[in-house]
Amino acid sequence: MDIKSNATPKTIYLKDYTPATYRVGHVDLSFALFEDKTIVKSVVQYIRSEGAVSADLVLNGQDQVVTGVEMDGVAFDGYTLTEHQMIIKDAAEKFTLSITSEIDPASNTALEGLYKSQGSYCTQCEAEGFRRITYFQDRPDVLSTFSVRIEGDKSKYPVLLSNGNLIAAGDLEHGRHFTAWSDPFPKPCYLFALVAGNLVRIEDTFQTMSGRQVALHIYVRAGDELQCDHAMQSLKKAMKWDEEKYGREYQLDLFNIVAVSDFNMGAMENTSLNIFNTKLVLAHQETATDTDFYSVEAVIGHEYFHNWTGNRVTCRDWFQLSLKEGLTVFRDQEFSADMNSRAVQRIDDVDQLRRLQFSEDASPLAHAVQPDNFIEISNFYTTTVYEKGAELIRMQHTLLGTDTYRKATDLYFERYDGHAVTCNDFVQCMADASGRDMSQFFLWYKQAGTPTLAASGQYNAAQQQYTLSLTQSQPDTSGQTDKKPLHIPVAVGLLDEHGNETHRTQILEMTAREQSFTFDHVASRPVPSILRGFSAPVKLITDLSDDDLRLLQLKDTDGFNKWESGQTLALRNIERVMADSAADISQFVDDFGVVIEQAVAGAGDKALFARALTLPTIAVIAQTQTVIDPAAIDQARTHILTSIKRAHKDALVRLYDDNANTGAFSVSPAAMGRRALQNIALELLTVTNGTGCATRAKAHYDGANNMTDRVAAMACLTDSTQAERELVFADFYERFKAYQLVVDKWFTLQVMANRPAIFDDFAKLRQHHEFNIKNPNRVRSLYSAFALNNPVQFHHPSGQGYAILRDAIIELNAINPQIASRLVTPLREWKRYAPVLQVQMQSALQAIMDTPNLSNDVFELVSKSLK
Ligand code: PHE
Ligand code: ZN
Repeated sequence: MDIKSNATPKTIYLKDYTPATYRVGHVDLSFALFEDKTIVKSVVQYIRSEGAVSADLVLNGQDQVVTGVEMDGVAFDGYTLTEHQMIIKDAAEKFTLSITSEIDPASNTALEGLYKSQGSYCTQCEAEGFRRITYFQDRPDVLSTFSVRIEGDKSKYPVLLSNGNLIAAGDLEHGRHFTAWSDPFPKPCYLFALVAGNLVRIEDTFQTMSGRQVALHIYVRAGDELQCDHAMQSLKKAMKWDEEKYGREYQLDLFNIVAVSDFNMGAMENTSLNIFNTKLVLAHQETATDTDFYSVEAVIGHEYFHNWTGNRVTCRDWFQLSLKEGLTVFRDQEFSADMNSRAVQRIDDVDQLRRLQFSEDASPLAHAVQPDNFIEISNFYTTTVYEKGAELIRMQHTLLGTDTYRKATDLYFERYDGHAVTCNDFVQCMADASGRDMSQFFLWYKQAGTPTLAASGQYNAAQQQYTLSLTQSQPDTSGQTDKKPLHIPVAVGLLDEHGNETHRTQILEMTAREQSFTFDHVASRPVPSILRGFSAPVKLITDLSDDDLRLLQLKDTDGFNKWESGQTLALRNIERVMADSAADISQFVDDFGVVIEQAVAGAGDKALFARALTLPTIAVIAQTQTVIDPAAIDQARTHILTSIKRAHKDALVRLYDDNANTGAFSVSPAAMGRRALQNIALELLTVTNGTGCATRAKAHYDGANNMTDRVAAMACLTDSTQAERELVFADFYERFKAYQLVVDKWFTLQVMANRPAIFDDFAKLRQHHEFNIKNPNRVRSLYSAFALNNPVQFHHPSGQGYAILRDAIIELNAINPQIASRLVTPLREWKRYAPVLQVQMQSALQAIMDTPNLSNDVFELVSKSLK
């Protein structure tokens, strides 16, 4: 019996959580892989939970044909199948259930469960993909040990992998073979993984802090093995870092990473068998940029760190997703800060937070880090849960201090190893280890929206005192009003009028709506450096003058605020130009020249200088506007960039020349910094898109010995109408057409073009034989790159940009709902755009809404966006 439902999708609430009625003792899975189908048999021991409110066993399952069920070894038909469930009413207290079913990985374009990617089989079970493999209680609080047997054709699939330790392998009849795996640590089914394919492997080893040897294997397609070294080095660094910083050791003898080309996300932390998007494993100077190298290190770290924060200690339910993701992002950010430049890392992380998370908070899709409800959990792998979640951990780290924070995480691992827990449990460990009351802090997890923090200072010369008055306010968001004040750590230091630091960083703990903090022994009117290191994810408004900001920009000891002051000055000037195109920006342009000269002089972190010489992007500026008009922002921004180029051309040429590529390629932070600085000089020199610019950019491309410089040159050419543009793009394609990830870059760089030809170009690229709507990386390289990196053309008043995205969402809805719903992001903030744009964005959303057979994924984001 198969009951189809046509009801509107059901909302799931955190308050309705109840423990599973049955526990699972052990899961035994066997997979027989055939070209036309895969036969899956699961043998599961069920034990009724103490205090279970019912004796009904309810299993989740979909997209499979059940061919046999046995209970305790005897054929059994006392079950009911609904569209997505198998129900056994009044089941026994303890029994073993075997289910055999058939699935068709080759036709699985959603890329959840078991699917095929370029000839290999692989799985993706988080969050709810395991139900596409077998009927099971597909929820993270059901933990058990697993054993797995896989059999398939030996020549096609010589590599057969699953979680844990390999316990048997051998040949079978008809050219087939098998492997058997055992994972002794109980895990939820979302961490299950299987891989079968014709792959090559790169090997290394790691000796753990207790002296055990762990074999490290990275599996890729033949030909890609030369691009794995950086990933392997990153893995070893991550293993060491987790031992040193968190005292966490790896528990198994084997750690596998497999790279696949078709993947909905970045990577997945399945126990001892991480599966990665190729984009986050492969890195070679010829084919990957410095940013790619950086991301590989960060994500290899991220997935490895999940071994403890996510796997050993897991989530009770999906409302707790940030328990593992926020914490693991914080851990990977700190890992990257330790491996590279701390200030640059913080700048880049905050920039991303503002661009993506602040915009989520400002949209109808704003939600809490621990949400109260959802329709489709896949929609909650958001920058709020991840990046804002990481900021919440960072604030707890700041409030407790490094040592107490470490005591608290030790307590967390000791208390909850092998358990499925909540964000509340984590914060309770912070409270217990520190003796602090963290109940007000917990509001950060429950209240959506970006708080505003307003700061104003008063100096009392007679008393030699400086008082900083802070006011916090919380915006209303969908379904949430009248929010309470938060517990905000505000890191503040004071500088005197010469820029000397007189008061080192203090953490002011704000708990009320309005609060004042007084500094003593302040000999003259100070300049405060507020929210150092971006100590809380808020929008800061200060009463600092341009001169105060200029002082901070030159003298602050806090690398983040030094950069931030320059960005605030840039924003102020962009706003002046937006209000009056003839506004006087000469002071800003002169100051910019001083920074260029400092960069030329060469003392200091070149990567930091590169950030200082970068104006805020349109997306970041948009977050400071009440009504967003991308074309107007772009015009003002370009006017300033052009003025900078005119005023400082010679200095920029010197900066470019002094930072030219010499000697052998290296990915050291210093070498990356040099490239970043030279490339920002190139960007500033080519803003006017004239003939000289095109010549210069092409020369840069022609002289490049690495992908970073090539991509930088192409980004400078993409808006151009000069002949060099087509020459360079054609050369690039010919050179790299064999490399899928580089072809992705080729698509991306073209659709970023802010020029009238974009719509014709886009149509051609969509028809290009290399475009494949079923490959998520390719979809992102075309559609997401256009909608997010080309704001002026995406928001073209004709509405053509919106139509492109609308059609893609409708097409993908039937192919891959997760990828379709991710594409809704650029439309979610429609209410904040200028009226002409707003109506068109709304009608694009409405057209999607009116499409029959919408997936839950797309339905949820579009219907909530329209509210
Ligand atoms: N858990 C993965 C991570 O953040 C992300 C992911 C989610 C991957 C869902 C696939 C599917 O590391
Ligand atoms: Zn993660």
